[in-house]
Amino acid sequence: MSAIQATDLVRQFGEVEAVRGVSLEVAEGEIYGFLGPNGAGKSTIVRILTTLLQPTSGSGSVLGHDVVKEPTTVRRLIGVALQEAGLDPKQTGRELLALQGKLYGLKGSVLTGQVTEVTELVGLTDAIDRRIQTYSGGMKRRLDLASALLHRPRVLFLDEPTTGLDPLSRALIWDRIRELRERFGATIFLTTQYLEEADELADRVAIIDHGRIVRQGTPAALKAEVGADVIDVAVEEREVGAARAAITELQASGELPAGELRGTQAGYTLFVPDGPENLAVLIRGLDKAGVRFGAVSVSRPTLDDVFLAATGGRMATADQDGQGEDGQDREPEPAGTGRRSS
Ligand SMILES: Nc1ncnc2c1ncn2[C@@H]1O[C@H](COP(=O)(O)OP(=O)(O)O)[C@@H](O)[C@H]1O
Ligand SMILES: [Mg+2]
Repeated sequence: MSAIQATDLVRQFGEVEAVRGVSLEVAEGEIYGFLGPNGAGKSTIVRILTTLLQPTSGSGSVLGHDVVKEPTTVRRLIGVALQEAGLDPKQTGRELLALQGKLYGLKGSVLTGQVTEVTELVGLTDAIDRRIQTYSGGMKRRLDLASALLHRPRVLFLDEPTTGLDPLSRALIWDRIRELRERFGATIFLTTQYLEEADELADRVAIIDHGRIVRQGTPAALKAEVGADVIDVAVEEREVGAARAAITELQASGELPAGELRGTQAGYTLFVPDGPENLAVLIRGLDKAGVRFGAVSVSRPTLDDVFLAATGGRMATADQDGQGEDGQDREPEPAGTGRRSS
């Protein structure tokens, strides 16, 4: 039996088709990364699978229990840390966890023991008796995580657990998530806008865009699908047309292989079998055509390139946070960001 299963899920909000036919299957003990930009439909899927929202059509189940027909059973089996968690700033962390625990029917020494255990697990032992208003963003997210773990759920849903956090807080949460799986074998459904996060944590990734899964597989397999090396060329906006013409011509004459060429706002990304070999040809060609260009880089494909190849757009990277949280739509990223150079 799979831990999580969805078949042809659709959800409309009036005219908006937030989810347009999503099917997926997550095995027990797996960390499943649900990667997509803001507005892709991630939270809507999480809300359906956690029984908080009805699908317009399609079905979903958790550990074999239908999320629409058996919501009470499903809720007992899952832990959920939602993107917009409401925390009372005047409460202490411990008070919040105790209240949550009672909602799950825990009491007495079992409740106390569980509160201590999850507090340790998320690394908040020193701060747990302080008011939540004194917590940093990262500490609040770890408190959310603790609260989702109180009743020892077998399946955990984490909706963008690190969006808007600084790199250190993010790394702390990553460690906790890994530990959860190692110690308890929990199944984790994790949504993220950050390709690094999916790459770091997930056994398998689904890339979601405009309500549809556009790619699915292990990070390694997805990158291998792109296959080619990636050359990024940054050009100024008014040079974009000239750059495209020059590159297309080099491909037509056979000087550059016919790899896929994608325009992004900040330049061009070329997928070619042998990046280093073709770099000099590309630079000379652009130079000869009088195209002014900025940074040029060669690298192995990342999940960002998988996303680009699938959708034509770039993802946000973890160090660029302007576009977190507030529902702003993504903007194309400058070519070459968020990439590991080879
Ligand atoms: N309650 C709602 N009413 C109307 N539109 C909604 C509602 N919830 C989400 N949407 C829309 O559905 C789309 C997907 O949203 P969401 O699932 O929150 O995306 P994500 O979590 O990937 O950022 C967006 O266009 C969003 O504006
Ligand atoms: Mg969301």
